[in-house]
Formats: sequence, structure tokens, C-alpha cells
Amino acid sequence: MLVGAGMSVGARCPSWVPESIRLGGGRSAGGRWDGVARTRPRGHFGLEPLAPPAPSHTRTARSAAEAPDDPVTPDPPCDVFPAMASPSVPAVDRKADHLTIAAGEGVLHGAGSGLDAVRLRHRALPGRDLDAVALDAELLGRRLAAPLLVSAMTGGTDEAIAINDRLAAAAARHGVAMSLGSGRALLEDVGVLRSFRPADRPPLLLANLGVVGLDPGMAARVVELLGADALGIHLNPLQEAVQPEGDPSFGDALDRIAAVVAALAPVPVVVKEVGFGLDADDVRRLAAAGVAAIDVAGSGGTNWALVEGRRDPRAGRLAAAFATWGRPTAEAVRDAVGAAGGLPILASGGVRDGVDAARCLALGARAAGMARPLLLAAREGRADEALETVVEQLRIATWLAGAARSADLGAAHLQDSAPG
Ligand SMILES: Cc1cc2nc3c(=O)[nH]c(=O)nc-3n(C[C@H](O)[C@H](O)[C@H](O)COP(=O)(O)O)c2cc1C
Repeated sequence: MLVGAGMSVGARCPSWVPESIRLGGGRSAGGRWDGVARTRPRGHFGLEPLAPPAPSHTRTARSAAEAPDDPVTPDPPCDVFPAMASPSVPAVDRKADHLTIAAGEGVLHGAGSGLDAVRLRHRALPGRDLDAVALDAELLGRRLAAPLLVSAMTGGTDEAIAINDRLAAAAARHGVAMSLGSGRALLEDVGVLRSFRPADRPPLLLANLGVVGLDPGMAARVVELLGADALGIHLNPLQEAVQPEGDPSFGDALDRIAAVVAALAPVPVVVKEVGFGLDADDVRRLAAAGVAAIDVAGSGGTNWALVEGRRDPRAGRLAAAFATWGRPTAEAVRDAVGAAGGLPILASGGVRDGVDAARCLALGARAAGMARPLLLAAREGRADEALETVVEQLRIATWLAGAARSADLGAAHLQDSAPG
């Protein structure tokens, strides 16, 4: 359902939104995304940008009458990460640029996720019928029908209503977890609440905020506003470093995370990267800080340095050298499982289908997440079909690898660990 032109995104809330919150706001979407803007001088470093930056477009949300049953409009405005505020570019234009660029070409990591090299065994005698394979899983105290996560993406604009509604409807129908995009905009303007509160409720819903400038009050507020089951905190140092308006203030990041963990308890806190992975030392530090789970969000999928590089020439010059930066997802999962001391590890970053998800589980992940592929599907109105396909692929891969349950997948199901 798209909200009609001129209608406030705060005007319609699903029934599961508490009354106190439903009455909370009234301003329309498109307000400033973040208050920590930082403009740096734009020197020329003698390198060419990766590509001409995408132009900013001024867009307004299309009305429901214009596109009643249609996929999401091709170029919807999108919030991406919190520190996007620019003194010179309206927030809605930056959001539109980010979604357009993230969904376009030239934003994929220059090296793979490493998942292709992870070989599951193939059992021509799987030992059971396909429909006897169980995919259910426990994550952060919730029961999922399949160990999958719609990774954090959007919220904050009229168009995000349609995207989140489609993703949440699919996640709810297939019983998988979903994270909303960064809630920084919501903290500044509760009027955008509807864009973060989809009509359908997945079994596990995560709110999301960036670590820069994060404090316990912000964290508690966003969880309360969204009625979220958990909070995801994203670490995006490379994106902040190349982004013209970025704020790479990461010196106190771990302290901020520990403070949020303590303040939110018992609400679980998950920490994630955004597509460059996590080092084992960082995983150990996060585990010691008390987080409930860690999403490695490794490299091999969407590369946010390249996204920034396509919207700004200076960012492009900086980003060019980081096309292959980071820890590929397969390696990051292996490392994290070894370093996390039993903490649930989520695998994302370049996960492209249910076979990739099965590979991640066999490497020790508790669940696997996908962002960009599901965004593309949601924009085309086929989020449900896409998720259904991933779930079935996961079921078939689990079966063929010889496991009765996806939760049982492990080293014994990997070809390299197989006997003889
Ligand atoms: C359009 C878009 C918006 C995103 N916004 C957020 C965000 O607000 N918070 C966050 O933690 N990650 C965000 N991400 C990063 C994803 O959650 C994910 O970590 C990253 O894209 C790698 O996964 P992928 O290769 O499946 O896209 C966003 C990704 C996309 C494609």
C-alpha cells in the first residue's frame, strides 16, 4: 500500500502500534535524516572517480491512485545510513540517490563472498523425503520457520512504507526475521513512524541504528517506538570515511555499544557490519561487551564505499581503492564462530540464494541475511516469491547435504570435511 501524495506517513499505523505512539506525530516524511553532518574539504587526489556520480533527483511519493497494485516505483527515496545529512542536498534527494545507486550497477564488491568455494556434500541417498526436512530455528528467543533474515535497509520516507510492507509481509508469511533500516530519522521526526512500522509483523523484528553518536536513550526510544524485539547496531567505518558528510568518530564505538547493551537489557542487541565483515578480534570485543548476537555482514555483496563513490567525485576517488576491501563473508563467518564463544553468529553480505544460506549454516552461522537481492525483489513487487524461493532452496540444499534439519548443518556436511 502506497501512501497518497501529501499524506503524512505518520497518518496510518497498523493496529499493533501502541495508541500512545499512533497519536505521536504528524509531520510528513522527508525530514533531515541525521544531525551529525560533517563537511570536509574536497581535495583532488589525482585519481579518477569510479564512475560519474549519480545525479540527485527531486522526487515526490506517488499516490496510491497512480500505482494501485504496482511494484514499488522504480526510484523511491530511501534512507540508507544515518550520517547522510548534507547542508546542500535535501535529505529526500540523498535517500533517492542511495536507493537508486544501491539498486543499480557498479556497487557490488570487487571480490566474492567466498561462499561459492564452500562445497556442501551431495547425497544422492539423502536418507529422508524432502518434505521431512525441518528449517525451524531459534534466534534471540524467537522461533523462526526458517533461519533467514531480511537485512536492515529502509524506513523514513513515504516510499519506504511500500518497501517495508512488502518485505514484512513476505517475512511474516515465511516466518523469518526482519530488520528495519536505520531509525535515526525516526528519532528526529516521529511523523515518519509509519514508514518503519509495516502492516505485517515478522516473528522477529529488529530496529537499527548506527554506532556514531549513539547513546542509550536513543536506543531505548527507537526500540520503544518500533515495538522491536531487538536492536541492531551497525558499524560502517569505511562508508563514513569516504562519504562527504560522513562522521568517522569510531574511537568510542565499543563503549557506546556496551552502554546500550546495559541500558536495553533484557532487549537483545545485535551488532553488524554493512558489507566489509568483522575481524575475529572485533568479534571477541563485541562478545565481551555483552551483545546477544553478531552479524558479520561480510564482503562479497553490496559495497557501500562504491555506492558513495557513485554519488560524489571525491568519494569515488577514495572508494576506488576499496573495491575489494574487507573480510569475505565465508571467512568472516568461520572466524566469528571461532571467536564468539558460542554467541549466535549471523551471516550476511553477498548471500544470494538458499544454497548460500545453507553454506553459511554449515560454516556455523545461526541464520543468514540478505539485503540488496530482497530490495530488488520488493521494488518489483515480488518479495514474497523471492523469499519463498530462498526458503525452498535452503530446504533442498539441507536435504541434499544429508541433514534432517537446517539447524543440524555443520562441518560434517561440508565436502572438505567429509570422510574419504
Ligand atoms: C538500500 C540499502 C539500505 C541499507 N541500509 C542499512 C541500514 O540502514 N542499516 C544497516 O545496518 N545496514 C543497511 N544496509 C546494509 C545491509 O543491511 C547489508 O549489511 C549489506 O547491504 C550487505 O548485504 P547484501 O550484500 O545482501 O546487500 C543497507 C543495504 C541496502 C542495499
